[in-house]
Amino acid sequence: MCGIFGCIMKQGNAAPIIRASLKRLEYRGYDSVGVATIQDGKIYVKKDQGKIDDVHSILNLDDLPGNLGIGHTRWATHGAPLKINAHPHSDCTGQIVVVHNGIIENFSELKLELENNGHKFVSKTDTEVIAHLIEENLRKNPELELANAVLEAVKRLEGSYAVAVISTREPDKIICARNESPLVLGISENAVYCASDIPAFLPFTNKVVLINDGEFIILSSKGYEIRRINDFSIVAREPEIVDWTPEMAVKQGYPHFMIKEIHEQPATLRNTLRMQEHYLDLISTFLDRAREVFLVACGTSYHACLAASYMFSKLAFLPTYPVYASEFMEQHGKSVNIDSTILAVSQSGETADTLAAVTCAQQRAATILGLTNVIGSTLTRVSRVYVGQQSGPEIGVAATKTFTSQLSVLAQLALRLSKKRGKISQDEMDDIAERLEKLPDIVETIIQTQKEKAKQLAKKYKDAKTFFFLGRGVSTATAYEGRLKLMEIAYIPSIAFPAGESKHGPISLIEAGLPVVFICAKDGAHKTLIGNIMEMKARGASIIAIVEEGDEEIKALSDDYVEVPKGIPEVLSPIPFAIPLQLLAYYMALEKGLNPDTPRNLAKSVTVK
Ligand code: AGP
Repeated sequence: MCGIFGCIMKQGNAAPIIRASLKRLEYRGYDSVGVATIQDGKIYVKKDQGKIDDVHSILNLDDLPGNLGIGHTRWATHGAPLKINAHPHSDCTGQIVVVHNGIIENFSELKLELENNGHKFVSKTDTEVIAHLIEENLRKNPELELANAVLEAVKRLEGSYAVAVISTREPDKIICARNESPLVLGISENAVYCASDIPAFLPFTNKVVLINDGEFIILSSKGYEIRRINDFSIVAREPEIVDWTPEMAVKQGYPHFMIKEIHEQPATLRNTLRMQEHYLDLISTFLDRAREVFLVACGTSYHACLAASYMFSKLAFLPTYPVYASEFMEQHGKSVNIDSTILAVSQSGETADTLAAVTCAQQRAATILGLTNVIGSTLTRVSRVYVGQQSGPEIGVAATKTFTSQLSVLAQLALRLSKKRGKISQDEMDDIAERLEKLPDIVETIIQTQKEKAKQLAKKYKDAKTFFFLGRGVSTATAYEGRLKLMEIAYIPSIAFPAGESKHGPISLIEAGLPVVFICAKDGAHKTLIGNIMEMKARGASIIAIVEEGDEEIKALSDDYVEVPKGIPEVLSPIPFAIPLQLLAYYMALEKGLNPDTPRNLAKSVTVK
């Protein structure tokens, strides 16, 4: 997730406006920043890696001439956060510059085609291909208008994009296009703006034009023109007035980042399905050849690892050992060796416990692989191979969208391993891969249809002193994650166990009315789970079941239930089943008058051991 911005001023220079507006988009990404303006037929660019204020203090981003320009604040997905990969990116001539938010899935083949046509690339980004595609279109047809050259380029792109283009060819225009990545326009007396999000220009105007997927924009000092990408037909759309405060706008109208990020999951899961195949294949090859595999992480990332151990086992018959990073040295420090492989999972890539475990393993010659959300983080630098989960910045302290993204990447790795090892049928692999593609829509459905139910459950059980979370098989990981969410943002002491463990002790805690959340994915353990529910019910517990639609047997046993769409493969179930638990924790925090974004005693990235 990055932030793009562009403006055409009637009065005054564009650069200071661009920098100030990028600053308001910094929550979308902050590892590099760049600004480009046009003046007297020349393009001026300043860009570097680093946060906006730091880069500005060195380069003075305001000091660029011209009343028209674009800018970008980056969250690296393709290419490390280095100056060379910072946007804007240009074509070979330097007469076309582009800023982009999204993921171009087919950038490798486009890049190859363009290199074969003589184009020289300087960055490792997917974005750069857009500038060279436009250049190639204009080279083939010099009479082409800029808008048409951009349109033809955009039609070649597969994946998500919000793109803004300027060129000395038509120095009074900004050309934009949108597919899946957000894009909005702002209209004021003195300027027209394009941005990834409303906060960017809200201090200048609250007249907003929302842009839809598949739409193409021509901005000029005369205003804006919207056209459909597929047939270039005109779209008439008037601005609307938004009455958000800047604070609300950064959360896109949501009251907290956590609920905004819960709602982002359909989009982030789609992005996670646009991984760079090369890195997934590489990591799965390392895992396939390993003598032993440890999945090392903390907190929510550990729960993703726990779920992954079931995925790797059931799909690829690969034994893997999920280990709390803080315990790794004590547990395996002496035995880890050159034949060991560590897959370290950390959304921040900076968690001290995880990095310490990695260092310990590295010192004993183990192979280090990484899965993280932050390209350029320490974990990416110490890993032999890493893959970025592409969730975009997560501001809420509680991990939500990064958890489901991690699970999606780990499921993709398990599927690749399964293919390599041929342990399950091709039909089964195809079915799981197909269902994985459908998960973003399934998650969207759950959020929309079960949000109210989660709110009601929070109200009903807000005085509960303790919660139980139980599951079997891979749902054990989901239960652990539900417990952590409720504990960390609603401060309710919660207990989670594999459901089969309850009778070995924890069941002694059960008393009348104590809420027990059961994660009831339709899997091999479903029948046994019903027995566990009966055990709890017989002792007066209040049964809250997360069930598949139509699971009448468990619904009949439950005091309350939340439904998720049916037909979800067991190994993928933690992704959809986690959503109601995230919502329950969020609304429980609100019921208790707490701020879910900033839970007490916690930090977003725990960089101390
Ligand atoms: C999760 O909601 C917590 N914020 C915390 O447990 C977190 O998952 C843990 O600190 C690991 O963070 P990482 O993924 O950045 O390594």
